Amino acid sequence: MDKKAEALIAAKRAAGYKAADLIKDGMVVGLGTGSTVYYMIERLGERVKEGLHVRGIPTSFQTAMRARDSGIPITTLDDDPVIDIAIDGADEVDPGLRLIKGRGAAHLREKCVAAAAKQFVVVVDEQKVVKKLGAQVPVEVLPFAVTPVLKDLERLGCKPVIREAVKKDGPVVTDNGNFVVDCQFKEIKNPEKLEAAIAAIPGVMESGLFCAYTKKTTVIVGGEKKCKVITLPDIVA
Ligand code: 5RP
Repeated sequence: MDKKAEALIAAKRAAGYKAADLIKDGMVVGLGTGSTVYYMIERLGERVKEGLHVRGIPTSFQTAMRARDSGIPITTLDDDPVIDIAIDGADEVDPGLRLIKGRGAAHLREKCVAAAAKQFVVVVDEQKVVKKLGAQVPVEVLPFAVTPVLKDLERLGCKPVIREAVKKDGPVVTDNGNFVVDCQFKEIKNPEKLEAAIAAIPGVMESGLFCAYTKKTTVIVGGEKKCKVITLPDIVA
């Protein structure tokens, strides 16, 4: 492995471990999805083995499997509709702590969990911190409505592309049985407005824009040596 890849893994591990160490005994924990959350689950699993009592709500099949392998007890939004802390990754974070998520096609459940959480902790490496959101916006779409949804998304100013699977022929099918449409916009001038406009299209389940949780968000930016912790008051102050 080259030095850059090693440094990236170290950054993800540092962010994930720091987030896992915020979890207190008895908490219900939202378990996000992805390669940074992987390290959070690893550390949380160690803490559970040391005697910490938590219940985790996974946001994907992948996370559910990892949590089970790590010995973390699993619960559901039905049994625990209020989550004490949710910890998740992101693809981009802007200075207002708005996010683009969904590279792993888990953003629908991730948004349900973020919405139900009292505190939302986002774990990223430095590459994800941007001045302005500009990555492609993943949109989970009901297959029944995909053609009209593509037309409506195009009207919003992007080139929508149905995400193709890698080890399966045809489209990615999410954990919820839907398609994912990736939308590259020339410019995202107003992320809140764009999130609302996408959500208003019939057949859209959720987009990867996360603009509504900034006040309860803490971002942990992993670095090789230490982590930077950002909350909104830090920026406003
Ligand atoms: C999955 C996500 C992930 O949280 C996001 O893509 C970040 O993943 P990683 O930590 O692997 O870069 O939104 O849908």
